[in-house]
Amino acid sequence: MKDHLLGLEYCSKQEIEKILKTGFSFKEVLSRPIPKVPTLRGKTVVNLFFENSTRTRISFELAQKRLSADTVNFSASSSSVAKGESLRDTIRNIEAMKIDMVVVRHKSPGVPYFLTQCTDASIINAGDGLHEHPTQGLLDIMTLQEKFGTVENLKVAIIGDILHSRVARSNIYGLQKLGAKVALCGPPTLIPVHAEDWGVEVFYDINEAVAWADVLNVLRIQLERQGSGLFPSRREYAQRFGVTREKLRKVDKDITIMHPGPINRGLELEHDLADGEFSVILNQVTNGVALRMAVLYLKSGVGS
Ligand code: CP
Repeated sequence: MKDHLLGLEYCSKQEIEKILKTGFSFKEVLSRPIPKVPTLRGKTVVNLFFENSTRTRISFELAQKRLSADTVNFSASSSSVAKGESLRDTIRNIEAMKIDMVVVRHKSPGVPYFLTQCTDASIINAGDGLHEHPTQGLLDIMTLQEKFGTVENLKVAIIGDILHSRVARSNIYGLQKLGAKVALCGPPTLIPVHAEDWGVEVFYDINEAVAWADVLNVLRIQLERQGSGLFPSRREYAQRFGVTREKLRKVDKDITIMHPGPINRGLELEHDLADGEFSVILNQVTNGVALRMAVLYLKSGVGS
């Protein structure tokens, strides 16, 4: 039976730990003079992106090349989807060309699951609407493990637009399964109504979140989804919830800063902090390649 990665909600603690451990092994491979292994030679992976992406798309493609897989990139805007072809017909036609795995990003939650119902290929979710972005959650956890040794009892506050964030959901599920403590912070309009049901702390004052946390995972304000007046203005959001040196100076501790990207500099995160001594943002991007190699390898069926 094909193995898929649809979300961290559906992964056990043991499965997450295995992916992370394999990710660290591949990180060692990437530090070699020739950062390439023949692990997926003969396998064909299709990157099916219906939404824009820089990090996830390039990272998956690099991971596939480092594993010696054959890769094909699909872009909705230049495909027959633009002529009205359905998702099911698209995947069935691609599958007819003999593929093994599909990495999919789509604006609608549930599309990766839908694809498991119409193809025999292994499906990897690269972000589905507001639902999950499991490889982002895993690479975030890998980056924290690398820095702290373990995430058990680590206090991670996720700041900002939780309501629209698949990254928040994957981080909450993954971190909690590994024993971390998770808090959410943002304006009430950007926090889901029943957020406490996730077993997280909720702060509406960023100074309280900063005082509580070891790590701030700052989310992008999704400006394209803010037409309905969920906060009064960018200026007010930056003042109240933007992560700045001034707010960090109020506490006597080093706080690790994460961001999944892309960053709205000066809105959710002060320009200088994004590149500063507390930031692990580019470590997240670096780890993404090794972590995605681990997911592709473990879900390919090779070695099992
Ligand atoms: N973090 C993330 O998913 O970035 P992209 O949208 O650039 O892939």
